Amino acid sequence: MTEHPRVRLDYGNMMADRLGGRGIQPGRLHDLAERFREVQEDVRRRRESGELGFFALTERAPLVDQIQAFADGPAQAFENVVVLGIGGSALGTIALLHALHGPDWNQRSAEEREHFPRLFVLDNVDPYTIGPLLDRIDVRRTLFNVISKSGTTAETMAQFLVVRDRLQRALDDAEGYRRHLLFTTDPEKGVLRSIADREGILTLPIPQNVGGRFSVFSAVGLLPAAMVGIDIEALLAGARDMDARCQADALSENPAGLFAALQYLADTERGAPIHVMMPYSDRLYSVADWFRQLWAESLGKRFDRAGEEVFAGPTPVKALGATDQHSQVQLYIEGPFDKTITFLAIGQRDSDVEIPAAYGDIEALGYLGGHTLGGLLDAERRATAAALAERGRMNMTLQLPRLDAHAVGQVLMLLAIATVHAGLLYAVDALDQPGVELGKRLTYGLMGRPGVEQASLPEPDPRWIVD
Ligand code: PA5
Repeated sequence: MTEHPRVRLDYGNMMADRLGGRGIQPGRLHDLAERFREVQEDVRRRRESGELGFFALTERAPLVDQIQAFADGPAQAFENVVVLGIGGSALGTIALLHALHGPDWNQRSAEEREHFPRLFVLDNVDPYTIGPLLDRIDVRRTLFNVISKSGTTAETMAQFLVVRDRLQRALDDAEGYRRHLLFTTDPEKGVLRSIADREGILTLPIPQNVGGRFSVFSAVGLLPAAMVGIDIEALLAGARDMDARCQADALSENPAGLFAALQYLADTERGAPIHVMMPYSDRLYSVADWFRQLWAESLGKRFDRAGEEVFAGPTPVKALGATDQHSQVQLYIEGPFDKTITFLAIGQRDSDVEIPAAYGDIEALGYLGGHTLGGLLDAERRATAAALAERGRMNMTLQLPRLDAHAVGQVLMLLAIATVHAGLLYAVDALDQPGVELGKRLTYGLMGRPGVEQASLPEPDPRWIVD
């Protein structure tokens, strides 16, 4: 079995002895290590009971073969894949595409894409985006992957109705639209499931015990990823390797546990409820977006598990290195001590761009020659981490050994498990999202969905309007 290099968490800059007393006292981490053993017991129990279904997704399952066979076979006929979905049904796929193929995938020629399709993920209902996209692509050469766990989310259902109509108008055969649709949804419930049964549309299941934001390793993320040639086996292997590491009961050996414990202590004991994730890579920016949803929706809760009102939850923020050094970092270094910064770094790049040597006589420019852009980016990250630490600001670095599917699988799994750990530390239910559901219900009401109580929102009060 090949040993893959591991994702590494360097958390020295979170600790008080590095930060002139401002960070986390080693003793507090030590104290939490005791509680962490109970957290791990709880995780094991919930995992065995099937409550934490996402763990099982990384097991080699027949579904993975089916997905790969579809990607290698019928999917080859399509020039484009468009994912219709939102939130947890969209963000993981965007993170995988950008991390492993780059945000510019759809701009590349078919040869550059080795004839794998373009991949668009809607993640919204903005007519300014969706209208022009559907005008631009040839819908007759497109597979639309409608993804919704509940099979009822208004945004996704609206996207579906628009797309179905476009297909019906574009295709000669009135029923042909069905061959351009694939639903990824609950195996039993929801509108998508019943339409699929009625109209014979191809489906893939999202296990009932896997919620949207934990579904990246299910068909939700795997099908679109496999269709664009991402190595889903390696992705799952990376996730499995991380899962094995995160079964350690000793907090000091458990990367997910440490990440969760440090963020939890920073928030609850060191006054730092803002958790910034700052990749130093355009490709990893969407991982920060995916994480932002995971952390916010899982931990932002009004009630704890005992039913007490707690209004818990850190606020995740995304930033991009080096771009945001010229936008946000001034605030991070000198503003309030209310943040932690997690850098995402790449150990070894498989390609880089040399900076040519020129203007050797100009000191302020000549020094750059002979370096690479990747080297400059890394230097900027290390310098920013050091500057933050020098000013007593907590920061840590998650380093991917390389930017490949195995490492991305490790990072996503680490963050998913850390979210479960953090949920147990905060004593909230990390798997539900009652606030989101409330917003969904009010939207249904406003849009006139029968059977849903019609929402009455307060009329705008002219006293508070400037126009
Ligand atoms: O993580 C979640 O549960 C949510 O963000 C959902 O993914 C999002 O609301 C979309 O829901 P659904 O997949 O049911 O359409």
